[in-house]
Amino acid sequence: MAVKLQTKYLEPFVREHELFGMQHEVEAAHKLLEEKNGLGNDYLGWLYLPRDYDKEEFARIQAAAKQIQKDSDVLVVIGIGGSYLGARAAIELLTSPMYNLLPKQTPNIYFAGNSISPTALQEILQLCEGKDVSLNVISKSGTTTEPALAFRIFREFMQKKYGEDAKKRIYVTTDKARGTLKKFSDEQGYQTFVIPDDVGGRYSVLTAVGLLPIAVAGVDIEQIMQGAQNAMENLSVCDLGINDCYRYAALRNILGRKGKSIELLVSYEPAFTLMNEWYKQLFGESEGKDHKGIFPASVVFSTDLHSMGQFIQDGSRILFETVVDIKRPKRDLTVKEDPSNVDGLNFLTGMQMSYINQKAMQGTILAHTEGGTPNLVLEIEEMNPFAFGYLVYFFEKACAISGYLSGINPFDQPGVEGYKTNMFALLGKPGYEDKQQQLLEKLK
Ligand code: PA5
Repeated sequence: MAVKLQTKYLEPFVREHELFGMQHEVEAAHKLLEEKNGLGNDYLGWLYLPRDYDKEEFARIQAAAKQIQKDSDVLVVIGIGGSYLGARAAIELLTSPMYNLLPKQTPNIYFAGNSISPTALQEILQLCEGKDVSLNVISKSGTTTEPALAFRIFREFMQKKYGEDAKKRIYVTTDKARGTLKKFSDEQGYQTFVIPDDVGGRYSVLTAVGLLPIAVAGVDIEQIMQGAQNAMENLSVCDLGINDCYRYAALRNILGRKGKSIELLVSYEPAFTLMNEWYKQLFGESEGKDHKGIFPASVVFSTDLHSMGQFIQDGSRILFETVVDIKRPKRDLTVKEDPSNVDGLNFLTGMQMSYINQKAMQGTILAHTEGGTPNLVLEIEEMNPFAFGYLVYFFEKACAISGYLSGINPFDQPGVEGYKTNMFALLGKPGYEDKQQQLLEKLK
């Protein structure tokens, strides 16, 4: 198993019988998923996706990635939320957060359309000047404001630069048939990839949404799917004694019910930072509804021990931590003797930094649990494409089970519409006149 749940630090906070007391609830949640009769059952395509994915489309993704690698210095990936975070998380975790700066054979990859910041967009345009560029526009609905705005601007850039040939460099990942983006792409002659109808945005990283940009970065996407399939098989048994994913889902609910209303995902690798963002969207958008849910937050240690450590150790006792323990780093360094010993650190001579990082982790877990913050640990031997695929599926399934345990629909996101309605009204979109008046009154 590429991801193992370690619960030994949880003993003072959750007793064994409490976990097994959840077996019936977990069985009910499992049944809702398997029998596809729970809330949001139209969006369960991710459940068997690692086995049932479209192999022909997968080969097209690999071919398109090779073409982009051959003819482009830069790939601009346009998308937001579930159409953005997974790809970026995978690239940073499996290559490096410094991917664009390090020497490599593959194109630089910039992410656009994930905000409305004109500065951010102008900077990416600037980075594209004088380079050969391809675009991957990702939007299931095809109408999301942020990516649509970025696409307008980059379409113009591409048309100016390549004229008629721009269409050979624009790859669109969207809904199969519905939606304006598919229709527009077919008219323009762009190559399109499919986001399956029954896979929601935040569950879509293992479709073309994530796989095309990840493959362009030179990551082995077959291994990612293998890892996800392995997780799908391992995590299918509804037994809290052996299914770590279900145990994790049950334990976070037990902690949530005890007033631990914030889960901090903790990593000791800066490369995990965007994976934290992906996890926050997955759990936040899935569980935060009907005035319920555990608020997903994240930290990267030891960096954030120097900023958030105080609160976690000693502030309001509303937190629990889920530590992602990646045991073998991609690279290591050995500490050398310094004759001056100016920093007093010669006692570390001969030690590997990974060992020091591990001791920091163990010391922190012990300190935080003593301070009253429960810690769960997800152990991963080594981060590679297989483990990434496994971890993605682990979190997706844990999120679905956890959502059903708290009686919500883990697959919709009605709350996201609130800001959009107000923004459109304030911008004077036709049809929003009454709302505009109400809002302008409030802003006076
Ligand atoms: O998970 C979700 O459904 C959302 O985060 C969407 O992915 C996000 O809003 C982008 O939507 P779209 O892909 O339709 O542009």
